[in-house]
Amino acid sequence: EKGTYPHYMLKEIDEQPLVVRKIIQEYQNENNELHIDADILGAMDEADRIYIVACGTSYHAGLVGKQFIETWAKVPVEVHVASEFSYNMPLLSEKPLFIFISQSGETADSRAVLVQIKELGYKALTITNVPGSTLSRESDYTLLLHAGPEIAVASTKAYTAQLAVLSILAAVTAKTRGIELEFDLVQELAIVANTMEVLCDDKEEMESIALQFLATTRNAFFIGRSVDYYVGLEGALKLKEISYIQAEGFAGGELKHGTIALIENNTPIIALATQEHVNLSIRGNVKEVVARGANPCIISMKGLETEEDRYVIPKVHETLSPLAAVIPLQLISYYAALHRDCDVDKPRNLAKSVTVE
Ligand code: F6R
Repeated sequence: EKGTYPHYMLKEIDEQPLVVRKIIQEYQNENNELHIDADILGAMDEADRIYIVACGTSYHAGLVGKQFIETWAKVPVEVHVASEFSYNMPLLSEKPLFIFISQSGETADSRAVLVQIKELGYKALTITNVPGSTLSRESDYTLLLHAGPEIAVASTKAYTAQLAVLSILAAVTAKTRGIELEFDLVQELAIVANTMEVLCDDKEEMESIALQFLATTRNAFFIGRSVDYYVGLEGALKLKEISYIQAEGFAGGELKHGTIALIENNTPIIALATQEHVNLSIRGNVKEVVARGANPCIISMKGLETEEDRYVIPKVHETLSPLAAVIPLQLISYYAALHRDCDVDKPRNLAKSVTVE
């Protein structure tokens, strides 16, 4: 039940700190160490390459998950959109492991790939919110999201839950492979949960950003570099699906190769700047679009901020920043949709679970 909330989406956005804390608990053993079933770790360790397959928001989570697994566990990862996999089937490595990410566990496009790779004799791990779902039943292994039912069509808490579970999978796999991480993931995720709470409590500010940049616009662009690019893709998807504003996410450096032609006076550009190693370059990209009249909304992370930034996210571990940075984007999409009189929980043309290919 949505209780006192006007929409499930807002309730589910607010649940994210609790979901992250719940995931930490669910994945800890009696010694408070992060724990993943031995057979899953065995499969992760044996794999010479991981293929993540998913759709929509879950695909965006997969892109961030690739960063976790490659940087921490040092296993190469490819991320594929499920509906394209069959036609553009990658040349598989010798010992592939497939990871399916699906909130519902019922997405037909993802299931089609699962059926195909099972026929080829490969192993599959499904990361899902729904125990006993089709993808979970038909996979060799399952990791649960523990996010609780997600009712709003636009996925929010499932995305951050997917990131949290992927981060745990990556960190525990690293340990299994004898790689020492120089931070404590439990502690860092706890900081993320606290930060999420601060962000969720800042709704007035999010509403004012939505009003300032998105109330009447026809289109909007999200830019970022490195993982900020992936968060931007998710921000753009959220905005278009519930507010019907045409929105696109781009790698900061790619805009000038064509899309910059679309920048007009006052075109909103939401720029993410949470990554130190690309901070100067993304700010350079902001200057390029401002020179063409764009209205920039820079969302940065504490420590990297400048006076021109519209919003500063409290500091979290840099690799985990997508878990925090997505929240302002979810909230500004919510308020943009609200002020444009859109049906937030049930956007037109969309269904919660897409069971056709
Ligand atoms: C976006 C959204 C969709 C789903 C996609 C995959 O808010 O909800 O893009 O993420 O249809 O769904 P699952 O994760 O259930 O496979």
